[in-house]
Parts: sequence; C-alpha cells; structure tokens
Amino acid sequence: MAIQTIQTTPIDGQRPGTSGLRKKVGVFQQAHYLENFVQSVFDTLGDLSGKTLVLGGDGRFHNRAAIRTILKMAAANGVARVLVGRGGILSTPAVSCVIRKYEAMGGIILSASHNPGGPDGDFGIKYNIGNGGPAPEAVTEAIYQRTTTITSYRISDAPDLDIDHGGRSYVEQMQVEVIDPVDDYAQLMEQLFDFDAIRKLFAGGFTMRFDAMHAVAGPYAKAIIEGRLGAPEGTVINCVPREDFGGGHPDPNPVNAAELIELMARDDAPDFGAASDGDADRNMIVGRKFDVTPSDSLAILAANAQVAPGYRGGIAGIARSMPTSRAADRVAAALGIPCYETPTGWKYFGTLLDAGLATLCGEESYGTGSNHVREKDGVWAVLFWLNLLAVKGQSVQQIVEEHWQRFGRNYYSRHDYEGIDAHAAKVLMDDLRVKLAAMQGVEMNHYTVDFADDFEYTDPVDGSKAAQQGIRIVMTDGSRIVYRLSGTGTEGATLRVYLERYEADPEQHHIPTQQALAALIAIADSVASIAYNTGRSNPTVIT
Ligand code: G6P
Ligand code: ZN
Repeated sequence: MAIQTIQTTPIDGQRPGTSGLRKKVGVFQQAHYLENFVQSVFDTLGDLSGKTLVLGGDGRFHNRAAIRTILKMAAANGVARVLVGRGGILSTPAVSCVIRKYEAMGGIILSASHNPGGPDGDFGIKYNIGNGGPAPEAVTEAIYQRTTTITSYRISDAPDLDIDHGGRSYVEQMQVEVIDPVDDYAQLMEQLFDFDAIRKLFAGGFTMRFDAMHAVAGPYAKAIIEGRLGAPEGTVINCVPREDFGGGHPDPNPVNAAELIELMARDDAPDFGAASDGDADRNMIVGRKFDVTPSDSLAILAANAQVAPGYRGGIAGIARSMPTSRAADRVAAALGIPCYETPTGWKYFGTLLDAGLATLCGEESYGTGSNHVREKDGVWAVLFWLNLLAVKGQSVQQIVEEHWQRFGRNYYSRHDYEGIDAHAAKVLMDDLRVKLAAMQGVEMNHYTVDFADDFEYTDPVDGSKAAQQGIRIVMTDGSRIVYRLSGTGTEGATLRVYLERYEADPEQHHIPTQQALAALIAIADSVASIAYNTGRSNPTVIT
C-alpha cells in the first residue's frame, strides 16, 4: 500500500446546490471529477488526524465505486477512522444519527435524493458537519472555491475493501468499521416513539402499506415496521434498494408514487399509506382515499407532539421553509411558541435546532423532522404518524379534518414547470423582481396585494444572511403566491409556483384544492406571464 499524489486541474461547475453536488452519473464518471471534489472537502476541513468520518449512500448506481474511492482518499488524507454502512448503504437521516451518536467529525453522503438513478440518472455527494446536518453555506462555498484552484489529490493504491460484511479492517493507517445501516437508527426511533402502542395497533388488525420505492428506506422500514413493530410481511413494499430504483422516480408525491395512491383510493385500501424518497429523508402520508399535504402533516404533528414519548415535554418552537404553508404558524400561535420562517433547504434549520429554538421542522417538499437528527427524516415521520394513529384511534382523515376545524384549513398546492430553458426562467424571475415595488395595493381577482418582496433571511442565531430566496406576493387575507427556481434539478431550470389560501369556515373545507385556489392560480400566471415566458400552458407536476 502506498499513498499517491495525482496531478489534476480544476473542473468547472462543482458548486454545491440546495443539497450538495448533484450531476448526471456520466459527469461523476469523468476522470478526477469525484476525486477533485472529495479532495476539496478534505482540504477545507483541515487537519483530519484523529478524526472519525461517517460514509454511506442510498445505494444508487455509482454508490459503490464512489465509496471505494473515498475510502482510499480518506486514508491518504490522514483520517483516523471511517464508519461505513454495510454494502455502502446508509440513509441520509441514518448518517446524521450515526455522526451524532459516535461524535464523528462529520460524514459524506452519496445521494441525489429523489432524483432518478441508474447509469443515465443522477448522482450526488454532500458533506455533513459534526452536528449531523448539512454543511452551512460558508463551508460549501469554501469547498467550491477549493475546487477552482485544486492541483492534486491524494489517494491510496490499496486494493478495494470488502464492505459487505461487518467488522474492522485497515486502509493504510485508517481504521474502517463496517456498521449495520439500521441498528443505531432503529434504537433512536425506539426512544422517541411508543413502540408498544404501535405494536398493539398492528396486532389489532390495523393495515398499512409503506412504499419504499426501491430505495434506501426499504431496509429501515422493513426492520422497524415489520420487524420491531410486528406489522405483517408485505406491509413494506418495493423494499430492496436498487441501483436504478426499479426505473422509477423515487420521489414520494402523488404523481411519482402513483401505485400507492391508486391502492389508497380503493374501497378496500389499507388504513394508512406512506412512501419515502431515494435517500429516505422525505415522506408522504396518505389516508384511505385521503392525501395529507406535507404542510398539514407538519402542523398536525406539532399540534399533537406530546403523544410521542420523545416530545412529551412539549416543543420549543416550529420552523418551516418560507414556501411551506402557514398551517404550522397557527399551531405555534395556539401553543404560544415561536414559528420560524427560513429559506428553502434543510440546512437553514440547523442553527435553530442546535440552539434549542425549534424542535420540529418541515418543508412543503415532503420533508419533516425534528431535533433528533439534523436532516429531515422520512421513516421518523411515518413512525410519528403511527404513534398518533395508535393513541387517537381515529382515521387519518378524521385527524386531519378535526385539525382543520380547530385551526382552519390552509389550502395549498405547488405547480412545477420542469425542464424549462434556464435563461427563460431567469428572465421570468428578473421581470418579477422589477414588478415587485409597484404591486402593493394592486387588486386582482378579488384579492388585494398586501406586500410583495424577494424573501431575505437573517439567521436569528448566527446572523448569517441569505437573499433572493423566493418571490412572494402576499394578499391582505394572508393568501400567498410564491415563485422560486428549484435548486436541486440537473436539467435546465424548474420553476416552482406555490399557492396558498386560508379558510377558517369548516363549511368551506371540502372544496377540491385546485378549485379552491383557482383565482390565485390565474393571478400567478398573469403576473409572471408564465405561459409566455416558459412556452408552457400547464405545469408538468402539480402536488
Ligand atoms: C432538498 C433539500 C430540501 C429542500 C428541497 C428543495 O430536498 O433537502 O431541504 O426543500 O431540496 O428543492 P428545490 O428543488 O425546490 O430547490
Ligand atoms: Zn431525499
């Protein structure tokens, strides 16, 4: 074994996006591409001697190859120890859990989350810091800057390590420990939720379907829901992670998880349905013939948090991303706790969680989580719902409708225009920015604009700022239209339009969502000239 120094030159475009560096597999397969980025991470972290790193991914195509390379590079860069998931598998929340439990310096996660996988799909890499959460902007920016000046990287020429069996071995001086991907995470879940109550629920004939979408949640859901909680075999479907996610799009929304939605719409549907994404940090909650929006799910878990042993003492605060509906704000007001509004991206919750200001966090993009780790957590959200269903003894629909009766309903929808021309998308956003100042007081379709701005955020803990985080048009009745460009796509640009309308009157709680939002949808299109700018008369995805 010897450590080699390989000459390289900077490769363009290695700036991490909303959640790490994501590119087509082919891009990552280029000579030196992954190596340049990984060396830039190590260079940014500084002295690695005596340090432990966690390493794992969602099992998508190129996962194994990347793990092999990173292990050899970590050894060559003086890392003392790496904890790697067996088979290279660790869900994103599990990496966060393991970093925290073993007080590692940080971790490297290989995933492109909900983006499709396979040789023609996407791959991704991100670095998480010692609190278990995504690296903050200052760190990702430093990594990026390093990629622009890199001249060489270090790698061991050691043979490939066996990562398919537990146990310890060495690469150069570095100890590699292959860990069970599920154990530490399952133990944490057992502390947070009332497993006895959930076991009784299943023993009493409660039925559920968890669609792991051929992605990494499979082993976790199977071991916990079928294993520890005694749900019948077959409760968790599509549970073996595949390199191409079975050719599907592992994003748990009603469009991509159509198989589950169809099942839940039947008369003989299970009591409860759930799905999660490629790396198991997202979740979708479905009742019998009844979908739950992620924004409502956050509000409902917050309103009922004390049912779970881990939150029995109450929650300190709630945090949601700006485009997420304001249903959670109403719960926070009723509980007398703060509700923080952050830019899109889980990383913005980190400081609030670390400072103990927020306990639960959520995003409209099917992400929910808490201070138990520093990532959103799909299986956690599903277990929280199971705990709630077990304690309440009501159906999903009853729980949601009672919540609306108490707090009012925030009708909510997101319209995506995927794969549009990047320049056209920029023009659309620039035009909107120009219009903002003149919008106050304007009347449209029975709505009056209260204010319009481009969301800016100052972190209340560390004072860091983020500008241009989404254009919002807020009406005098609290209804909102928000526009932003996706930070996670890999092809062209994706325009997201978020629509929200508050309705206090329970008599008005059962209008089909698109109908309830029709006037706002028309305003959104005309203000931004979406059809004109994008050439699309309809969104590609509506959630
Ligand atoms: C990832 C992040 C989320 C974020 C989402 C936004 O999933 O982990 O925290 O909400 O991306 O994606 P977008 O495509 O809207 O930028
Ligand atoms: Zn994800």
